[in-house]
Amino acid sequence: MKAHLIVCRDPNILNAESARRLHGLASEAIQAGNRFTIALSGGSTPARLYSLLAEPDFGLPWESVHLFWGDERCVPPDHAESNYRMADEALISRLAVPAGNVHRMRGELRPDEGARAYDELLAAFFSSPWPRFDLVLLGIGEDGHTASLFPGSSALREASSAVAATYVERLASHRLTLTPPAINNADNVVFLVSGESKAAILREVIEGEHKPFQLPAQLVRPDRGQLTFIIDLAAARMMHTRSDAGAAVVELDLELGGE
Ligand code: 6PG
Repeated sequence: MKAHLIVCRDPNILNAESARRLHGLASEAIQAGNRFTIALSGGSTPARLYSLLAEPDFGLPWESVHLFWGDERCVPPDHAESNYRMADEALISRLAVPAGNVHRMRGELRPDEGARAYDELLAAFFSSPWPRFDLVLLGIGEDGHTASLFPGSSALREASSAVAATYVERLASHRLTLTPPAINNADNVVFLVSGESKAAILREVIEGEHKPFQLPAQLVRPDRGQLTFIIDLAAARMMHTRSDAGAAVVELDLELGGE
């Protein structure tokens, strides 16, 4: 499967390039008279990007943007671990995003109830059992997880629901996550990967053996949409796909294993 690889010289350039590309996708959808639907990633990498999106000169008509989440920890929305709270502090609280455009996963519910509630929310919003996000943002953990799709999890094989509840032994954490079919139904999926600590796993995910149940990020193969990795040089350090270290941004094509 073909994918785009965008290698940015440093994290600041990665965030600026990600914001620029997100702005382009959103503007295209909105100018065509459509709303723009984005599933936000959790974790620490995207926080700076979200802050950039909240800058006044970023200038998106937020009334046409609908925010969703790719995964959530099963905690209340004001909990330090909440992905919603991170996005609220970095983005939502700083913008006039209409409350009706913010569709958080309800981590405060019992996990199975939270998963069912979000599945129902998505089905109602998209008028389909499968959401078709304009954009899904994802990160990659050092164990190859993405969203809250962790190695060995039963959620990796979920094929009938868009949302699953999962328990992560290693983190002693209940999570809600979009399932692979829900992610792969998106028009655009973008991995944001930054830093030396991700260099080894990124090489495995992109250049290594195709073993998606051990490396769940490899399950991300959009059915028809565009898959893009936006990474910085530190994260690219162990990849054979080298880029010109001098350039601020280098765009390459990738051929990924798997279907
Ligand atoms: C989460 C994320 C998770 C994250 C990766 C990378 O809820 O934590 O959805 O999949 O994207 O763990 O996290 P960092 O950006 O913090 O490295």
